[in-house]
Amino acid sequence: MVALTAFVAYSTWATLVNRDYYARPYLSPFYSPCITSHCGVGGRAATWHLVSWWPFSPAILIVVFPLAFRLTCYYYRKAYYRSFWLSPPACAVPDRHSTYTGESRFPLILQNAHRYFFYLALPLPVILAWEAVKAFHFPSGWGIGLGSAILVVNAVLLGLYTASCHSCRHLCGGNLRAFSKGPVRYWLWRRVTALNLRHMQLAWVSLGFVALADLYVRLVAAGAFPDPHIVF
Ligand code: FES
Repeated sequence: MVALTAFVAYSTWATLVNRDYYARPYLSPFYSPCITSHCGVGGRAATWHLVSWWPFSPAILIVVFPLAFRLTCYYYRKAYYRSFWLSPPACAVPDRHSTYTGESRFPLILQNAHRYFFYLALPLPVILAWEAVKAFHFPSGWGIGLGSAILVVNAVLLGLYTASCHSCRHLCGGNLRAFSKGPVRYWLWRRVTALNLRHMQLAWVSLGFVALADLYVRLVAAGAFPDPHIVF
């Protein structure tokens, strides 16, 4: 509960604050991809110049996709149903509420849209990987810095978390009457199943690391300390 509350508070602030999200060549993952043409200094941080009229934080246009994906995640649902709503507080402990309709009525029935949010979130690890590659291109040339490594790890963790999703497992191996009819899908399904067994751990590690990556970029951008890096 403490960790989830802290993350929600930090990520809301980081999304809305609209400054210190870019320290060339590092772009905060909360603002990736940046699709407004004024992103960063003079649009330098823009992944794509798609929107020119948006006056607010560019993160608001993006954050809805990972937010919906995480909010409807089966693991997070269990975590916040238990810790915030005490519904139920734990296994074999009576529900705090007198009536319980589960996820069969509005608004919780919307949780069933998780598989669609999975499809929408699927490009995000690829985009973050692209931003991580750009994080090796410093103003004076290609090199490597602590921020480059942090953004690479962040992209990998988000990719593992996304791949370990139950919907991903269903996408790979669902609707098959016999695995012998789809050897490639069976191979993929076994890999995703191995990741799926660690979904809870990946959910937490990727959540914590994305905040850490944002904080690192933010502190470097604000001049709190210089980013250690070498240029080849
Ligand atoms: S079940 Fe957690 S991300 Fe899909």
